[in-house]
Amino acid sequence: MTKPRLYSGMQPSADSLQIGNYIGALMQWRDLQEAYDAFFSVVDLHALTQPNDPAELREKTRRTAAQYIAAGIEPSKSTLYVQSHVPAHAELAWVLSTLTGFGEAGRMTQFKDKSQRYGQDATSVGLFTYPVLMAADILLYQTDIVPVGDDQKQHVELTRDLAERFNGRYGTTFRVPMPVIQQDTARIYDLQNPTAKMSKSAESDAGVLWLLDDPAKSAKKVMRAVTDSEGSVRYDRENKPGVSNLLVIYAALTGRQIPSIEDEYAGRGYGDFKKGLADVVVNEFEPVRTRALELLDDPAELDRVLASNAARAEAVARTTLGDVYDRIGLLRRA
Ligand code: AMP
Ligand code: TRP
Repeated sequence: MTKPRLYSGMQPSADSLQIGNYIGALMQWRDLQEAYDAFFSVVDLHALTQPNDPAELREKTRRTAAQYIAAGIEPSKSTLYVQSHVPAHAELAWVLSTLTGFGEAGRMTQFKDKSQRYGQDATSVGLFTYPVLMAADILLYQTDIVPVGDDQKQHVELTRDLAERFNGRYGTTFRVPMPVIQQDTARIYDLQNPTAKMSKSAESDAGVLWLLDDPAKSAKKVMRAVTDSEGSVRYDRENKPGVSNLLVIYAALTGRQIPSIEDEYAGRGYGDFKKGLADVVVNEFEPVRTRALELLDDPAELDRVLASNAARAEAVARTTLGDVYDRIGLLRRA
């Protein structure tokens, strides 16, 4: 029996991923790659919707790929590749853009937020069509499930609408994918501002745990994390967002249940608890960081792995795109 197909991706928007990317995305991807025929891309074309220094974008793309592998995505098991290495993404995005309503794209809340924040002059057409490119990513691979954060749900809904619209007009061509939305327990907040989601683009560095940082630095950040004055290690998202966030990180990295961690630290202070968590974080990050840096030490080998995975992706993508071109009436080159 063939495995159902899974697609997900991340933008190469920073030198290092943060612990939210690790817990909310990579750890889940790593587990899902066993039961699914999984495709994971580094979506560099999407990253062009923000200003980038060319040399830095190249570096971030390699670094993001290296961190996927270091975190346990196996390039022999899953197809792990760079989006721009498979031209069919941009090609299908064009076709899908002709099926997308102007108003429909304008209703995407991420576009509305970003265009409002940056202003009209800094808002590109690429930012507007970003979700259409994402739909192309997903539909090219006849995807069954798309694991993403809550903020991407609307884009997967658009993807489903476009697939159904195309299938309705031209005959069944695309599988209609299902979003799999990350649970609340996998959402990580900023250590200094525990009601804001931890983000690669956070204003201050003090609340962000970077996968590729010196682990001693991450341990210090854990020790300085914002808590409260109650002094008891107890999960209460509303009244104790700082401690609750640390408990979620602890549980996610150890695979333990929150109540068992609360029991362990009952009657002990936050200092002990943070010390315990700092050890957990260092133990988890150390091997991932070492492996990622090893991979980055040999960029030629990393590039070869990415190239062979791109070839595997391309074979699937070309088949879908050829079918799409035939169905909409583009003349085949003889
Ligand atoms: P981003 O860094 O926003 O491009 O997100 C890439 C992936 O990491 C998405 O699947 C997000 O849902 C996940 N992610 C990012 N930040 C967090 C966070 N603070 N907590 C949990 N998951 C996150
Ligand atoms: N837009 C997604 C994000 O910012 C990244 C992404 C691009 C993606 N293409 C995708 C995620 C396809 C899942 C499937 O997180």
